[in-house]
Amino acid sequence: MNPIRIDVKTSSGAYPVWIAAGLADRLDALEHEAGVARQRFIVSSPGIWRLHGEAFARAHPGTEVVLVPDGERYKQLQTVSRIYDALVRATADRSATVVAIGGGVIGDMAGYAAATYLRGVGLVHVPTTLLAQVDSAIGGKVGVNHALGKNLIGAFYPPRLVAIDPLVLITLPRRELRAGLYEVIKYGMIASPDLFTRLERETSAIFERKPEALLPIITESCRIKADVVSADERESGLRRILNFGHTAGHAIEAATKYRRFRHGEAIGYGMLAAAELAVTRGVMADADRQALARLIAKLGPLPSVTDLRTKDLLEVMRRDKKVVDGRLHFVLTPRIGETRIVDDVSEKELAAALEKIGCAR
Ligand SMILES: NC(=O)c1ccc[n+]([C@@H]2O[C@H](COP(=O)([O-])OP(=O)(O)OC[C@H]3O[C@@H](n4cnc5c(N)ncnc54)[C@H](O)[C@@H]3O)[C@@H](O)[C@H]2O)c1
Ligand SMILES: [Zn+2]
Repeated sequence: MNPIRIDVKTSSGAYPVWIAAGLADRLDALEHEAGVARQRFIVSSPGIWRLHGEAFARAHPGTEVVLVPDGERYKQLQTVSRIYDALVRATADRSATVVAIGGGVIGDMAGYAAATYLRGVGLVHVPTTLLAQVDSAIGGKVGVNHALGKNLIGAFYPPRLVAIDPLVLITLPRRELRAGLYEVIKYGMIASPDLFTRLERETSAIFERKPEALLPIITESCRIKADVVSADERESGLRRILNFGHTAGHAIEAATKYRRFRHGEAIGYGMLAAAELAVTRGVMADADRQALARLIAKLGPLPSVTDLRTKDLLEVMRRDKKVVDGRLHFVLTPRIGETRIVDDVSEKELAAALEKIGCAR
């Protein structure tokens, strides 16, 4: 089967996102075609390499493999340093390419190393989690956490190409699959009623990792993200719609110190809060909110929020880096597939929405 190609435009040129089942075996040819030189460095994690290293090594004969840990707490400069060490030791030059094979943590760290080593070498993203396939590998954001905050250090650095193989998701733990699915629901909510109904219809086939169920939802999500970031690379306008569910979601993650929720799970709650707020304002039909709530419930139970106090969550939101000029931009979905950005959400409205999704007063 021919791979699907989606192009992402950036200020420094365009890059393709290739999607196909079994693509892992064809990476060598894809990279060659994209002009990637022979000096390549694979960056992955021990766990991913144990599961999928053989196939990826076959597609990269003679390539050095740098394995670094990939938990969120390792997403920091010290780990990136280990990637630099390997590049320096092998006297990698400007023509070298870093091939990031892993979830968002590996992609962000390897991408940051590629962006900064010799002021920039080649980068290829081979995302292996659903979240990375539909979100983090597309759009050019790379970076690491600082002890005092998430993703505080980073850059915009487009890859040469992104290669997505849904077959690698077979080994992905169910919770990680679900975490990615909430972002897919987000794409449906902001831009595609078809994607939304497909998720409702094919939930079990998706959980069974059937390629024919995964392929269309990944492709549609990538298309939406690619369109949005191509129109607004640096998040001055349109890109903000990708933050649907993220204002309250980030607050829930931060208030629980990033320990209780996978990012996507917190976004599940964030989308529900945004929908409650929109319904209360009269800009969204309650039937659409209920459809969203049903789909989220269908994926399985979310960790509890009943012990989180709205006043603490509001405090976190006030400090959110996405607050511009003291105003909180909030993405609402008047209908499934449509967005409206508002900047006049009061704390009272927010508190009421958070209580409706189960947070404590
Ligand atoms: N750059 C961006 O635009 C962007 C966007 C969204 C999120 N992110 C970042 O992405 C990170 C989260 O990424 P994530 O959710 O992919 O988490 P992750 O990279 O931590 O991966 C989750 C777990 O899945 C494992 N794993 C990966 N692929 C696997 C596979 N095929 N089979 C079995 N196990 C596998 C990993 O080893 C890890 O334990 C966060 O740091 C977040 O900040 C970045
Ligand atoms: Zn997100």
